Amino acid sequence: MPKYSFDEITAHLKSSGFVYQGSEIYGGLSNSWDFGVLGASLKKNIKDLWWKEFIEKSPYNVGIDSAILMNSKTWEASGHLKGFADAMVDCKECKGRFRADKLIGEATGLSAEGKSFEEMDKMIEDNHIVCPDCGKFNWTNARAFNLMFKTYIGTLEDAKSVVYLRPETAQGIFVNFANVQRSARKKIPFGIGQIGKSFRNEITPGNFIFRVREFEQMELEFFCKPGTDLDWYKYWVDYCYSFVKRLGIKEENLRIRAHDPEELSFYSKGTSDIEYAYPFMDWGEVWGIADRTDYDLSQHSKYSGKELSYLDPETNEKYIPYCVEPSVGVERLFLMICCDAYDVEKLEGDDERTVMHLHPAVAPIKACICPLSKKLSEQANKLYEDLCAEFRVEYDEAGSIGKRYRRNDAIGTPFCITYDFDSLEDGCVTVRERDSMEQTRVKIDELKDYIRERIAF
Ligand code: GAP
Repeated sequence: MPKYSFDEITAHLKSSGFVYQGSEIYGGLSNSWDFGVLGASLKKNIKDLWWKEFIEKSPYNVGIDSAILMNSKTWEASGHLKGFADAMVDCKECKGRFRADKLIGEATGLSAEGKSFEEMDKMIEDNHIVCPDCGKFNWTNARAFNLMFKTYIGTLEDAKSVVYLRPETAQGIFVNFANVQRSARKKIPFGIGQIGKSFRNEITPGNFIFRVREFEQMELEFFCKPGTDLDWYKYWVDYCYSFVKRLGIKEENLRIRAHDPEELSFYSKGTSDIEYAYPFMDWGEVWGIADRTDYDLSQHSKYSGKELSYLDPETNEKYIPYCVEPSVGVERLFLMICCDAYDVEKLEGDDERTVMHLHPAVAPIKACICPLSKKLSEQANKLYEDLCAEFRVEYDEAGSIGKRYRRNDAIGTPFCITYDFDSLEDGCVTVRERDSMEQTRVKIDELKDYIRERIAF
């Protein structure tokens, strides 16, 4: 059972500058969000951490940055043009539009996974599911709604100039498989990762930044020899789960859910989701890890006519590599991290504090320099400038020290550093730690090492 309501957490994220409503001064744009000063920093830290752990620290993997707009044949080959669609129903009374499987699931608790349009129509009929918006029962039949955003390239708006905003970053990796393998001289097994924007015209986006139409993905396509794929699949499930745990996410809020055989795509040998107990649903997908076999490379080879197989230089075997794909949305990680970190703690007497127990590696601000008196501004500012070169630090001399601590607790700053009159004599500052609220006297000369050690992932 979540400790805090989702409304309370989102209100905090909005008011403290993590997330703003998109286009707010024009009344907003349905379910679009902007990341504010703290949110942009938290997001960047999450992406940097992923890049470090999945690309830079991996002996196998390399990273690329491919284009959002791709030749439309890509989406024919990948199956997105035909199959990347949700079943949609419209309420004929109020014109409300719903994803049929969600409508059925929310009204009855039954799963419509893998059901045909006709079967979904029957489930809606049999269970007399009314429109959640107007309460009437007058539906269109279920039909396919392709989730890709369509636009035109160049000056002509004809069939030949149609392009799509990519709905996943993965295809930019598959079409570059041969380029990367050759230019980076990679031997199987190896992975190609990238971070970038993806776009999906979701029928029912919602739950704040959980399901949005414009989001960022961090995807790794890991290519291996057929027959070794299930071992690598297990390896990447464990690796992703360990990444989430190392972020300090409470284990009771996490689970790994292996997909049932009927849920699997026809080409997948196994798929598991890392799920989090978000406050607005029982369990929500954070990270999907799938064994995609040789489907993607085979499809691109077929549609492009280009050779995408691999010749093993040691054994002379030629094969199309299998691919294991761990794929995660930055916004889903962001939301999980914030929901898990948010806390309102009772202190002595009637006092309480709002605190975000963010892992210091992702905290937007690592430390705040708080001079005890404005008379110490000059020395405290020097310290701030020195630390700025290496860490994202803030300077705050407004209000009592207690108020400054509270402000920083509420945005997850791991350390407040007080420069006082003794600092002039002993060359030390008081470091107050966010979670324990303990205070330690640290030599200014050793301060960088002190922070560096404690913010490491
Ligand atoms: N290449 C595989 C792929 O894209 P997916 O399950 O459709 O698979 C992967 O998406 C991840 O992207 C999800 O686990 C989720 O974290 C994130 N994601 C997908 N759709 C999203 C949306 N509309 N809003 C935010 N994140 C989304």
